[in-house]
Formats: sequence, structure tokens, C-alpha cells
Amino acid sequence: MSSPVTAIVLAAGQGTRMRSSRAKVLHEAAGWPLLRHVLAAVRALEPARITVVVGHQADQVRAAVADLPVEFVLQAEQRGTGHAVLQARAQVLAASGPVLILYGDVPCVRPTTLSRLEDTFRRSGRPLAMATARVADPAGYGRVVRDARGEVLRVVEHKDASEAERALDEINTGLYMVDARFLAAWLARVEQGGSRASSALTGEVYLTDLVALAAQQGGVAALEVADAEEVLGVNTREELARAAARLRADIARRHMAAGVTIVDPERTYIDAGVEIGPDTIVHPGAHLRGRTRIGAGATIDVGAVLTDMVVGDGTEILPYCVLEQSEVGAGARLGPHTRIRPGCHLADGVHVGNFVELKKTTIGPGSKANHLTYLGDATIGAGVNIGAGTITCNYDGARKHQTVIEDGAFIGSDSQLVAPVTVGKDAYVASGSSITEDVPPGALAIARSRQVNKPGWVAARGPKRGSAGHPTEKAGAVSGATRETAARTPADKRGSR
Ligand code: UD1
Ligand code: CA
Repeated sequence: MSSPVTAIVLAAGQGTRMRSSRAKVLHEAAGWPLLRHVLAAVRALEPARITVVVGHQADQVRAAVADLPVEFVLQAEQRGTGHAVLQARAQVLAASGPVLILYGDVPCVRPTTLSRLEDTFRRSGRPLAMATARVADPAGYGRVVRDARGEVLRVVEHKDASEAERALDEINTGLYMVDARFLAAWLARVEQGGSRASSALTGEVYLTDLVALAAQQGGVAALEVADAEEVLGVNTREELARAAARLRADIARRHMAAGVTIVDPERTYIDAGVEIGPDTIVHPGAHLRGRTRIGAGATIDVGAVLTDMVVGDGTEILPYCVLEQSEVGAGARLGPHTRIRPGCHLADGVHVGNFVELKKTTIGPGSKANHLTYLGDATIGAGVNIGAGTITCNYDGARKHQTVIEDGAFIGSDSQLVAPVTVGKDAYVASGSSITEDVPPGALAIARSRQVNKPGWVAARGPKRGSAGHPTEKAGAVSGATRETAARTPADKRGSR
């Protein structure tokens, strides 16, 4: 077995060209910070140790990947990519195998490319292997300078390059596999100031100086990556968008290979951390974000936005649902236009319909809330029917209160349940009720005033004002006039109702 790789990922820079107050490696593509994508590819290589060099916004960068098995070293001042590697000198000295160095801004890099670089390194017997690519527009990148025999001599940064060098279209991708002892020797020289600043202009120490040194001390092995876009760093917002599109395409391909139907992959937005079971169908415009997990045979319809959701097998999420941080069981149906806020647990077979909003609410098996309803801080049992327009009044202006609706209860349409309140098992609430007291099991609660009919009232009122002579009047204006007239009837003045 060959000695395991030690990985160093550089993520201390600010990324000026992003024109952002956030460090570049924290910008997200397909739901993950750029750095997290890089670390996922590196981890696939099973390195003995992964060290991330942090500096700019170090705390936020650490926090963004804190759950991964990586360690951090601080580069307090960003004095170039070579100076960044120097901060991981202890790790280099401890390495028993080659050192993989790469930058935190190459989110599309594939594990297969990293292992090909490792093979190139091990087979060559040279102190350094690097990945290069040929691009149509090499502006901004370091150019790879080769001699007449095609051997790599050095890398020259764009800003330091001559006209002739700028015409070279082979670029340094920033992926290197380096012999640990060779690297340690160079770092010692940098440490002692024996290596002058690579750029007189900025005082930076370039990691790319290592390439020239390797060329003199045993040669450089170059791996040309055919698909340049995979290994290009993200430096601008435009490149961020391109990288995100590429990552999404990769993600969609992976799910389709695992048996998920994605109707239109280019118009579907699935984050890197999402899991989807086989035979689920995802329609265009769906966004599956964060740690969302979808079961098998489910449907995620047009325009649904799911963030950190768990959705069971065979459940249908109809168009334009917005759901977050909640769980839905199997065989359920939500939407269209259902809103679920954090902290909800919906059991198997639950139906929640259009313009229903839920928050911190639990709903038991087979219960239904199909139309125009707000349920917040509620615990709802099995087989409950929530009528259209039901509202849990959970907030008294200062505190939130709980509503409990027990198994088999029926809440008539347009009812308000003023919490804290409990509707007992199998109880009924008459529609239009304002429930302020607990309803015992099996009871019918009616909490609204009784209807009064006034026979002959319309004729007694006399002709409607504006009902004749203004045939072109707009509907709204007519009804407005009708309301006015109605308010002046003697019956209403007496207040009898
Ligand atoms: C670098 C290479 C260039 C290559 C290009 C590929 C050098 C000198 N140049 O240029 O040859 O073509 O990548 O994308 O290496 N970083 C630190 N500390 C620092 C400076 C940078 O950690 O002091 C990190 C950044 O966070 C970033 C990475 O190193 O993740 C690369 O830095 P960046 O400024 O993007 O280098 P480029 O100019 O793109
Ligand atoms: Ca870069």
C-alpha cells in the first residue's frame, strides 16, 4: 500500500474580484460554500489528514466546515499562496506520503481528477506533479512555461508575464501533488527569508515558485485536464454562476443515475446535500435545499421550495409549496401553495391544501386541513378534519399558546381557536365559532351569535339609492352605495340583531 496523502487546502484569501464583504470561499454554489465542495472531493481521496489554511474571516470559514474532519491553521496576514502553505509546515514535516495542495475556490474539481494527479505523481518519481489546462481565455491565470522538449520550466503569474508569456494558453490550475521532503526544504528556505518575495510589487510569496524549483531538481510531471471548466477557480460572480450551473448538472446526473426522474435538469435546483429516493419525480422550478431528504416514489411538483425537509415515500408536494425544517410522512399530499414553517411534524396520509400555513404544529395520521388555514403551536390528532378558514389564535401579543385538537375532531369552517384551548376527541366545532374554552370529548361547541332573519326588510327599506338612472356605474361603486343605505335603516339603528 502506498503512503497516504496529506492534504492542504488554501482558503485564507479575501477574493477581491468578488467585490464582496464575504470571504470568497464562503460564497455558495448548489447550497454549499465553495470550500465545502472542495473538501468533499478531497475527502474522497481518503487522505490521512486535511488541513485548511484560514485567514480572512477565519471564524466564519471555520464554522462553515466545522462538522467535517479537518484541522485549521491560521494565516494571519495574506502574503501569498506560498506563505499560506508555510503556515501548515508542521503538517508537511509530519507527512509520510505526498502532499496534495489545492485552493479552496475550485468547487467543481472531481475526485477522479485528484486521484489521477496522485497517480501521475507516484508514477513520475518527480518531486512535483501539477494539473494544467488549456483555455481559450487564459487572462488572469498563471501560465505554464515549457521548454522546447515540452518539459515544464515554471509558472508565471498573469500580472508578471511578458507579452509572449501572456500568449500561452496553458494555465496552472492550482492542483499540486508534492513530495513532502522537497516541500519541507522549500518551506524552510521561505521561513528563513532565503526565498525572496515572488512579487516585488506586492511582497507576496507565490506557491508557484515551487514549480521552477522542482523543474531544476528532478522535473515536473504535468497532468493536462481536458475539461478545463472542472478545475478553473472561481474569482468573480460570473464564474460563481457558471460553477453553480456545472455543480447542479453533476448533482442532477447523480440522482438520475440512482433512479430519480428529473423532468428538466437545467431548470431544477438541487443542493449538494440533498437525498432523493428512486422513482421520485422532480418537476421544473423545484428547489431542494440544505439537508432535504425525499423518500421513494414521491412527487415534487413545479416551483416547490423545500429547505431542510424530510418527506416520506409516495408523498406528493404539489406546485408552489414553500416548506422548511419540518417532517412529512409517507403518502401525504401538500399544496398547491402550502406554507410550512419550521418545527412541523406531519404523519402519514396527511392532506394539507392551498393557502394553509403551519408553524410548530404536529398533525396525526390521515388528518386534513385543505383550505385557507393557519395552524400554529398546535397538536392535532389522527383523523381530524380542519375546515376552511380555521385559525389558531396562538399569540396574545406577548406570548405564544398551544392548541390541542384530539383524534377524530371536526373543526367547522371559519372558526377561531383562541389558545390555550383543547378540542376533545371526536368533538365538533360549529363553523364560524370563536372557541375560547375547552370543548369536551364528543361535544358540539357553537360559539357565535344566533342568526336573525328580518322578513320583508328589503321592501321596507325602499328603493336602493343609485339603483336607477346610473346604469353605467361600476360594480364596486354600486355595492358601496348599497352598504351606505343599509347602514341607515331604522332596524340597524335600533341595534336589534
Ligand atoms: C492562483 C495561482 C495561479 C493559478 C490560479 C488558478 C498563485 C501565485 N497563483 O492564482 O498560478 O493559475 O490560482 O486558479 O498561486 N490564498 C491564501 N492565502 C494567500 C493568498 C491566497 O490562502 O495569502 C488562497 C485563496 O483563498 C484562494 C487560493 O489561495 O483560495 C488562490 O488564491 P487566488 O488569489 O485566487 O490566486 P489566483 O490569483 O487565482
Ligand atoms: Ca483563484
